[in-house]
Amino acid sequence: MTEKKTLRLGIAGLGNVGVGLVKLVQGQQELRLAGNLEISAVSARSKTRDRGIDVSGYGWEDDPVKLATSDDVDVFVELIGGSDGPARASIEAALRAGKHVVTANKAVIAEHGALLAELAEENNVHLLFDAAVAGGVPIVRVLRDSLSSVDVQRVSGILNGTCNYILTEMLATGQEYTPVLADAQKLGYAEADPYLDVSGMDAAHKALILSVIAFGAKPDFSKVRVSGVDQIDGLDIKFADKMGYRIRLVTESTKSESGVRCSVAPALFKVDHPLAQISGPTNAIMVEGDPVGSVTMAGPGAGEGPTASAVMGDITRIFQGPATPPFGTSVSELNAEMIQSSGENTQSVWFIRTKLSDKSGALAELSKAFALCEVSVDQMHQDSSAGEAAAPIAIMTHPCTRKAAEAAASMIEKLDACVDKPRVLRVEA
Ligand code: HSE
Repeated sequence: MTEKKTLRLGIAGLGNVGVGLVKLVQGQQELRLAGNLEISAVSARSKTRDRGIDVSGYGWEDDPVKLATSDDVDVFVELIGGSDGPARASIEAALRAGKHVVTANKAVIAEHGALLAELAEENNVHLLFDAAVAGGVPIVRVLRDSLSSVDVQRVSGILNGTCNYILTEMLATGQEYTPVLADAQKLGYAEADPYLDVSGMDAAHKALILSVIAFGAKPDFSKVRVSGVDQIDGLDIKFADKMGYRIRLVTESTKSESGVRCSVAPALFKVDHPLAQISGPTNAIMVEGDPVGSVTMAGPGAGEGPTASAVMGDITRIFQGPATPPFGTSVSELNAEMIQSSGENTQSVWFIRTKLSDKSGALAELSKAFALCEVSVDQMHQDSSAGEAAAPIAIMTHPCTRKAAEAAASMIEKLDACVDKPRVLRVEA
């Protein structure tokens, strides 16, 4: 039997995930590891903050770039976050110094992944980021390695635990968006800047990473169509529920003859659809392609334990052998063009929700706008129970193009009776 290898870690960032990782390393005798782990040094913004773990036995480095290039470090673990600044600088420095890198940072991989992967390939080191997508669900490794022979046609899913928690809790408790977001932050699901979660940016970063792996597409974040849950309110959720639907923030990456389209948007799913049944901070990813058919994975997408577990999974990969291209396909061979997902010709049923002054003729004006845009209405629900001067109203259309649904919405917005900018959400077939 060969002697167990030891890897020396330098951990930058001691937030939730960093603390979770230190706990796992400290309890490694309980784990099924192929080698030994030592923490050489750590780096964080505050040396004195009480994090509930003892880091006094490790070296301390204020500057993560110094930690990344330290002679005592074999694996640099970046848990700082952010697409640029110290996160990017320290990852680059580590790769150039020939260190393996493990990161949970989706922003830096989505926005600078090609450059970083190129550096990793040039230096024959691992750049591993399974924790960057879907927390504890090992989708990066599965898509890159286990499904590498699959001709993937579509990757879709729920990739932001905070948004899914918000949407689920708003329905379950009847609370509005702001207090539920505050709970998600307290529970440790949200990013340091929750704008990244609720705007859809976090899910978009993750969706782009999966697109690069699944389709060999050159990453171009500017081509991802992004909208978030920050415009969804309790009324939308209530109306959707009345009609037998749940609202979920979904990512979609599809391959067509013209290239790869990637988008993130809230959409309605029938209550019995698998994605409608994903609740709380759970993430789910569906991969469709030949010859496997459809593979779905679901699990905890955020939080200390699940994300630290994914980081640990990547660290243990380093024990298993030499580095392979971080995205599966070598950067020099990433050739599929990404295309802007304008989606204006997307045919779908649409959910349109607004508020109209509760006066005679308002509904007639609304119907006229739909008729002029050649959008046929399937269902219309009005709720005057709140006793407000303006009545909330929700419409489900028959299938039509996004362009037609949005034209109707913008015509409705200009009506005298309209007092709330209409929102237009896709309804999954
Ligand atoms: N803020 C992210 C989420 C954490 O809510 O899913 C994992 O990236």
